[in-house]
Amino acid sequence: MSIFPAHRNHPIYWAFVLHRLSGLALALFLPVHLYVLSLAIGDGGKLDEFLDWTANPWVKAAEVTLVVLLALHMAGGLRVLALEFLPWRDNQKTLAAFAGATALGFGVLYLLNVV
Ligand code: HEM
Repeated sequence: MSIFPAHRNHPIYWAFVLHRLSGLALALFLPVHLYVLSLAIGDGGKLDEFLDWTANPWVKAAEVTLVVLLALHMAGGLRVLALEFLPWRDNQKTLAAFAGATALGFGVLYLLNVV
């Protein structure tokens, strides 16, 4: 027996939750990213300090997570667009699994490049 109501106990519901949460996480990340980029113009010393800090393995782990979230949101978004604009197909769970696998694939590729 699940702790979730029946209409939420479905892979496609969780695909929706992941898409929404990844979209929110990306929206929160973007202003921080733009602020750090702005240091290149305003305060080079502070930018160098920040870049030194990014050598920390926890920051690298956060970067990989962010890449997975971006790939998850992109693949999940393309899934939603396919759902809306292409003819209906019955294999929605397979498409969601494909979107998840694509995101993890991007994460692994990125991980192989940062370690
Ligand atoms: C990488 C390419 C991207 C694609 C293909 C994409 C696609 C989509 C689609 C189709 C939706 C609507 C989902 C729905 O109606 O259920 C959506 C929602 C959203 N996107 Fe994106 N997106 C992308 C990048 C981004 C980025 C970079 C951000 C943040 C900076 C972002 C933030 C959001 C947010 C906050 C929502 C609302 C989520 C919700 O209401 O469930 N997206 N995206």
